[in-house]
Amino acid sequence: MIKVCFVCLGNICRSPMAEFIFKDMIEKENLSDKISVVSRGTSNEEIGNPIHPGTIQELKSHHISYTTHYATQLKREDYDDFDYFISVDSFNSRFMRNIFIHDYQLKIHRLLDFTPLKKDIADPWYTGDFTTTYQEIELGCLALLKYLIQKYSFK
Ligand code: 4NP
Repeated sequence: MIKVCFVCLGNICRSPMAEFIFKDMIEKENLSDKISVVSRGTSNEEIGNPIHPGTIQELKSHHISYTTHYATQLKREDYDDFDYFISVDSFNSRFMRNIFIHDYQLKIHRLLDFTPLKKDIADPWYTGDFTTTYQEIELGCLALLKYLIQKYSFK
């Protein structure tokens, strides 16, 4: 089982959106027994809070199913439990490199680095633009899935 953890700041907007979009893709590709997905936040600001309504609205409008989720903070001890820590932006990649002692197993990747865009995903908590967030996360998740399928010969 390949274990993926999506990481943003609060774990209420971008990383739960990525978690449920990616889960939907994995289910449609019949890979749920090969790839598992969770999400975490680097900040302690939103611990225990539910998914932001803007994220829920985007998931609903794209018919992506989601389950109840409460924001959880990433911990130093999580490093060994996952194969991939996929950050939404370079701030959160940097944060992880600090708590994970320079990422000696090279598990940290920025989502849009799997696409030609190679950029950060802006925080809709500040921009209010959850639609752009959805489009970028969807692109990134498609590219990540393609990468994993090729790398592990899942097809
Ligand atoms: P997220 O958005 O990192 O995409 O979940 C944010 C949510 C909350 C805060 C910042 C970003 N906050 O400062 O509480």
